[in-house]
Amino acid sequence: MGNIILTGDRPTGRLHLGHYIGTLKNRVRMQNEGNYDEMYVMIADAQALTDNFDNPKKIQDNLHEVILDYLSVGIDPNKVNIFIQSEVDALTTLTYYYMNLVTVSRLQRNPTIKTEIKQRGFETSVPMGFLNYPVSQAADITAFKANLVPVGDDQLPLLEQTNEVVRTFNRIYGDTLVECEAILPESDIEKRLPGLDGNAKMSKSLNNCIYLADSSEEVHKKVMSMYTDPNHINVSDPGKVEGNMVFTYLDVFSNDEQIKKYSEFSSLDEMKEQYKKGGLGDVKIKKVLYEVLEELLTPFREKRKYYEEHMDEVDKILKEGTIKAKEKASKTLKEVKKAIGIDYFE
Ligand code: TRP
Repeated sequence: MGNIILTGDRPTGRLHLGHYIGTLKNRVRMQNEGNYDEMYVMIADAQALTDNFDNPKKIQDNLHEVILDYLSVGIDPNKVNIFIQSEVDALTTLTYYYMNLVTVSRLQRNPTIKTEIKQRGFETSVPMGFLNYPVSQAADITAFKANLVPVGDDQLPLLEQTNEVVRTFNRIYGDTLVECEAILPESDIEKRLPGLDGNAKMSKSLNNCIYLADSSEEVHKKVMSMYTDPNHINVSDPGKVEGNMVFTYLDVFSNDEQIKKYSEFSSLDEMKEQYKKGGLGDVKIKKVLYEVLEELLTPFREKRKYYEEHMDEVDKILKEGTIKAKEKASKTLKEVKKAIGIDYFE
């Protein structure tokens, strides 16, 4: 059996460089390598509602931002079914049957859920829908028989939960569902890109992000305000490279070709050496990073602009992707009902 790839994002905000390096880049690579039978990318609007049920407008607005982000980084609708979670009713039905297989205490022990409950102030009273979203995520993945799931590493506990559901289901009702595996970037720094301010994570709530949709001016402003070495006051002072976000980002995003092109150094290592010795100013290194990021982001902006001007095409992409997703999920739901023995009219 060939690979089936599925992944998704909650449309609660624009996607940023952390998303790009943490998972979008992997998705585009996998899409282009072509080593799969089917590939799905889901906009998880129903999951987003579990903690934004009182603000559906936010989800609606960001749904379009997220699909534009996908298309702008090169997710190709000819190769990938992009679809909307809430349109696929079979996912909700699957969730209902899977809920029997997971205990409340197991959900409360999920590290991702634990953190999110704290962040949202749900400690005293957590909405059932929110606590249950890992079960619904198990439905998202298993409905497509996905075995490969390119995600950020915060999603690992959710995939573990999915595989527990799969094993329990198959044990009780017979072999039906498929276990999955996370596809993560190789290095720790890519798994969790720090914020512009040096905070451990690039995150919307911390206001330390460069968004994929940021203009050239915005990127420039943000790079110029990045956290470097607070003790590197004069250009002639020796500077620290570790924990200096500009070098951290250069490590992730640049190659030596670009360092040659945008500085007087022939490699990033050489540039770091000079910075450590003293005599290399922050403005200079920031300019290099700005150019490197612009090389990445400019083609994204062009694609985004095209689709912004052709929103009818975007709608069509979503509609067609959703139709295919519905077909596949319904087929799995039938198999699940048959396995349980509730396929009365078949
Ligand atoms: N939990 C993911 C997020 O927070 C979104 C998501 C929903 C997802 N269902 C999924 C990711 C299935 C991968 C597979 O963005």
